Amino acid sequence: MTAPTWTRESLQRIVKREIGDYRLIVVSNRQPYIHEMVEGRLRYAVPSGGVTAAIDPLMQECGGTWIAYGGGKGDWYAVDDKNRIQVPPDDPAYTLRLVWLTEEEERGYYYGFSNSALWPLCHNAYTEPVFDARDWETYKAVNQEFARHVLDEIGGRPAAVFTQDYHLALLPRLIRDADPDIITGQFWHIPWPNHEIFRICPWQDELLDGLLGNDMLGFHIGDHCTNFLDTVDRTMDGQVDFDYSLVNYRGDRTLVRPFPISVDFEQIDEDARSGYVTEEMERLSDELNLGGMLVGLGIDRIDYTKGIPHRFRAIGRFLEKHPEYIGKVVFVQAGVFSRSEVDAYQQLAQQIDQLLEEVNGRFSQGGWRPIIYMPSDLPNVTLMALRRLARFCVVSSLHDGMNLVAKEYVASRFDEDGVLILSPFAGAAQELTDALIVNPYATEGFADAILEAVEMPHEERHSRMVQMRNIVRENNIYKWAALLLVDLVQGARRARRPVSGF
Ligand code: G6P
Repeated sequence: MTAPTWTRESLQRIVKREIGDYRLIVVSNRQPYIHEMVEGRLRYAVPSGGVTAAIDPLMQECGGTWIAYGGGKGDWYAVDDKNRIQVPPDDPAYTLRLVWLTEEEERGYYYGFSNSALWPLCHNAYTEPVFDARDWETYKAVNQEFARHVLDEIGGRPAAVFTQDYHLALLPRLIRDADPDIITGQFWHIPWPNHEIFRICPWQDELLDGLLGNDMLGFHIGDHCTNFLDTVDRTMDGQVDFDYSLVNYRGDRTLVRPFPISVDFEQIDEDARSGYVTEEMERLSDELNLGGMLVGLGIDRIDYTKGIPHRFRAIGRFLEKHPEYIGKVVFVQAGVFSRSEVDAYQQLAQQIDQLLEEVNGRFSQGGWRPIIYMPSDLPNVTLMALRRLARFCVVSSLHDGMNLVAKEYVASRFDEDGVLILSPFAGAAQELTDALIVNPYATEGFADAILEAVEMPHEERHSRMVQMRNIVRENNIYKWAALLLVDLVQGARRARRPVSGF
């Protein structure tokens, strides 16, 4: 096993060289540590989702300030009088600054425009976006509020602002207008749709104008970059250079680049080996009656883009076609709820309950149920134990920027065993080609893939897993962060030179 090229240390060196005296400011909606008051005591939790999983290790190495919405009930008690707190709480490495929003602002900006309009617009999952003019006004106002915090934090000093995701599409333009010397970059953690889809958004020009306030804009894969460039080309009066992946607009340049996000492979591998995980595996096996079973696993935010109903239907079809596996294969579905005030998420929760009843009702025998559903915030040690117990892990996204669950499964299998069933519609499928790639809409093929995973000989499981582990080990989160920071800073320096004959 060779050491990865990109490590915490090499990232630190790059940061020192590239960022130098610039202050690094990360901005996102979701904060990396959420505080809650439990029986009068302050506790914290790490929220699920790719943004926090990927950016926290970067901030731990680089230092700086992370500005985010303080949505936790205990956040108010955790911060100082400047709304700041040092994190991670157990071993502080950077500053977290929280932005407070009213319930009305949260409704319009987060549940409304971000998650009822932009999220379904950017994912081809056939959920109609809701474009509400009041939500849009609130979205604009909240982006301004974030900008106020960012500018206050920077205080006129040299800085690089690295914005995350679709909640803050207007922020880069606001920062650029206030201080053109600030370096601006953004990573869009979800897909970018093609122009035919994006153009239904009534505020497409404003969104694109906001994003083109960035020196550098990153997506997970090349297809999303191409979709974005094409959207700009057909919508705005800027010039698009497809060869160099550049947009020249209002006299400024935006570099558009793919950076496939990843995980901290070495850390996950090390955590997975811990004795606590082994103890947890034994506890879970007893509690869930997994002894002697072939275990399948899904770990998701309960979201309609993840293809959870499609997965349950495939499990039902697999048992129907192969009744010899009744009582022998069990599928554990772990999940966390978010955005539960949005109608589409409530409908999904109902659909999942209905399918569970159908599949479990039809095939259960004695104390055995084909699907064990655990819709609660499980601690990391439990998720790690589940990954190690699982003969196969299913990622059946209908559309997904990357999907880090797939990479986390691979990173935790230090025993070089286990099969990944992966949707071609997740960005991860471009890298993890040794997974069983399966269209989640095609129930027959999906059921056949489950059979293949269950019956795959050890030698083949091993060789596929070794390949996938090599890929994730080398293309880890430190590589993602280092390459992105280099492009951000160098691109920004180039962009600030006068434009000649572009
Ligand atoms: C996706 C988004 C993130 C978001 C996460 C969790 O990964 O790209 O920006 O934080 O989902 O969603 P939530 O709405 O709970 O923050």
